[in-house]
Amino acid sequence: MESKERMLITGGIPLEGRIRVSGGKNTSVAVIPAALLSDDIVTIENLPDIEDVRALVDILNALGAKVVYAPGEFMRIDPRGVESHHVGYRYARRLRASYYFLGALLGRCGEASVALPGGCEIGQRPIDQHLKGFHTLGVETEERGGMINAYAENLEGGDIFFDVVSVGATINAMLAAVKANGTTNIHNPAKEPHIVDLANFLNSMGARVKGAGTDLIRIRGVRQLHSTTYAVIPDQIETGTLMIAAAATRGDVIIQGCIPQHMESLTAKLLEMGIKVSDSDDAIRVRTLGAQRAVSVKTAVYPGFPTDLQQPMCALLTTAHGTSMVTETIFENRFKHLDELRRMGAQIRVVDRVAMIEGVPQLYGAPVNATDLRAGAALVIAGLMAHGTTEIYQPEYIDRGYENIEQKLCSLGASIRRETLI
Ligand code: EPZ
Repeated sequence: MESKERMLITGGIPLEGRIRVSGGKNTSVAVIPAALLSDDIVTIENLPDIEDVRALVDILNALGAKVVYAPGEFMRIDPRGVESHHVGYRYARRLRASYYFLGALLGRCGEASVALPGGCEIGQRPIDQHLKGFHTLGVETEERGGMINAYAENLEGGDIFFDVVSVGATINAMLAAVKANGTTNIHNPAKEPHIVDLANFLNSMGARVKGAGTDLIRIRGVRQLHSTTYAVIPDQIETGTLMIAAAATRGDVIIQGCIPQHMESLTAKLLEMGIKVSDSDDAIRVRTLGAQRAVSVKTAVYPGFPTDLQQPMCALLTTAHGTSMVTETIFENRFKHLDELRRMGAQIRVVDRVAMIEGVPQLYGAPVNATDLRAGAALVIAGLMAHGTTEIYQPEYIDRGYENIEQKLCSLGASIRRETLI
């Protein structure tokens, strides 16, 4: 992506105050395509106004759905006019989650033709498990000309055994199964909060999904799905990013409208570092008193430490006392942000999937490049910590997953602005 703008951050200011977290990106990009399964109008609330959500609106319109989108308020989707089952590359390339239209269109009309999402900066991102789930339900698929073409005479429920725990494959299987004939059992599913949120959304339309968030999801197919009004859950990863930013700037921040239970693995790590974290039923407070200790972090599927917070966590650990070990077990290439952190003075060695981060007294501002969404978040945190000014190129990556990130951080006292590059 050629950078059209850059973000300028003057660091060293402790973040202080209260901030409300937005609705979840990874739940929204699943729930919005799922609206196509309804036989009536669906209203979704608490959606974050981010690039990925806007891309999905364009895809729904291209398919023939009627969409009324009031950012920050609601999105109303009337899928009754949808005739097409084709999502071309010009749309699919804008977000990886476009592949959820495979499961949604199969569930709606038994047919789907969706352009393959590209690989991305963090790994090869195969979709073999998605296809395995579809095949179990009687779907025939072929890959041709960069498209996945999928067809099922009848969707028949079955037992899906995933070889790998995959958020995307679990979601696609759920979307294809809710209107299939008979019962579908999904074994070895992902258990992320957004899996549970999708199940709750589907059930609010009259689907019969049980066990989301556990080791077995059981779906009994239904003929019809009715209208609903549903608010998506708050963003687990934005909550974690703000928690880490508060700790990294030695600030005192209360994150409101979050679900503390979703944050337990991060909270435990911050407490281990000597950072004070306290929570109520819908808010988390993060404060730092004194030195922060180095820790070991190993990413894992939920409820383990989220891979999406690995990158922001590395930024925090660059000035912890001692040497931290960060092991990335989910994606094979999710350490690109470390080169950029080194440009800011971080001392980091990488061996295979393990980053050894030796704490230094201070980071220093520098021009750096965001290579993906969460790498960008890590660089924002590093910029907030650093002495001097940091220029982040390709900040557009950050806009894909964080709603109004500058405004939120400035409301906590940060000095951030964006410049258009001529
Ligand atoms: C989702 O990606 C998220 N994206 C990712 O967040 C997140 O990092 C990831 O889940 C893990 O939590 C969305 O929800 C839109 P996976 P997904 O399938 O579904 C392998 C962000 O920053 N795999 O759970 O693509 C895969 O290679 C993004 O918000 C297969 O082998 O992740 C990876 O090693 C980045 N075959 C592992 O499973 C498959 O068919 C986990 O991937 C599918 C996946």
